[in-house]
Amino acid sequence: MAEIITNEKKKVLSCIQPSGMLTLGNYLGALKNWKNMQEEFDCTYAVADLHAITVRQEPAKLRAQIYSTYAIMLALGLDPEKSTLFIQSHVAEHTALSWLLSCNTQFGEMSRMTQFKDKSAKHANNVNVGLFSYPVLMAADILLYQPDFVPVGADQKQHLEIARDIAIRFNNLYGDVFKIPEPYIPKAGARVMSLQDPEKKMSKSDENQNAWVAILDDKDTIIRKFKRAVTDSEACVRMSEAQPGISNLITIYSVITGKTPAEVEKEFEGRGYGDFKLAVGEAVADELAPIKAEYDRFIGDKAELERIFREGDMKAERVARKTYFKAMKKVGFVL
Ligand code: TYM
Repeated sequence: MAEIITNEKKKVLSCIQPSGMLTLGNYLGALKNWKNMQEEFDCTYAVADLHAITVRQEPAKLRAQIYSTYAIMLALGLDPEKSTLFIQSHVAEHTALSWLLSCNTQFGEMSRMTQFKDKSAKHANNVNVGLFSYPVLMAADILLYQPDFVPVGADQKQHLEIARDIAIRFNNLYGDVFKIPEPYIPKAGARVMSLQDPEKKMSKSDENQNAWVAILDDKDTIIRKFKRAVTDSEACVRMSEAQPGISNLITIYSVITGKTPAEVEKEFEGRGYGDFKLAVGEAVADELAPIKAEYDRFIGDKAELERIFREGDMKAERVARKTYFKAMKKVGFVL
């Protein structure tokens, strides 16, 4: 019998929280891959606004950040004609499926999540149930769209593993409903570190503004932040465990320029940290400048943004609903 050849593309799903300014870490760890995967795969990307309220948000600010995060997705070059770009809270199946999954997830396995431990220590006055069960909602985000790959930074790896565990368990109990997704984590740039403390992840919630670069920072700000980046004492541009600050900068520079760390070391052989930091700052600023320019264009037209996300919401909902009803039926609900 002739082999049936399908040219159906493999599927990709990922989301980003609208909790403040997006950083160079978000860009190198995830968003750059989102863009790169767009041609080869059938991609679905969302603004994970429901996740953002696991920590206290000011309503007006949250609203502005949802628009701004969506505008950044478009500014990156994500094309609503090729990919599905939507807002998580607009597709009710996310919270609905998350209930079905919650009832098939153990308290013990959630208790092991390192991000919950970190965040509950950081927000000790608001250790809410949503913060605890957040990975179940994330599993629902993923599993609804039956993706093959989920492009994320290294900090999301544990959440992806739990999403896979939940899916495997559900399929074993009720029959095949969910595809088991693979994490897609870049080899370099999966964990961009703070410019002020290279032992810590670069994070938009860091109060020290010099610790992180925002995707929307202007060139002068970016260069200033790199000039102030904490470096080490060996006074040479060399990747090593003893030099976490310089190693972080080498990684950033190498992901942006496409040069290997060895090539970067060679390029700066015999030159000081000052030259190197300036070169990294310029490379980052040049990479981000077109995104900022496009962002300014998109954010100025809210009506157009709304038109685009409504279409994305509808496309996403069609897919999500199918999986959700299948799961409901398998569990024994009457539809
Ligand atoms: P979030 O919003 O914190 O981050 C978005 C993406 O950026 C990556 N990232 C980093 N990568 C490298 N270095 C860093 N310093 C850095 N900081 C952040 C994250 O790994 C992530 O890929 N729970 C998710 C959002 C989410 C999601 C999902 C992701 C909700 N539902 C479903 C994938 C699939 C989060 O908080 O990412």
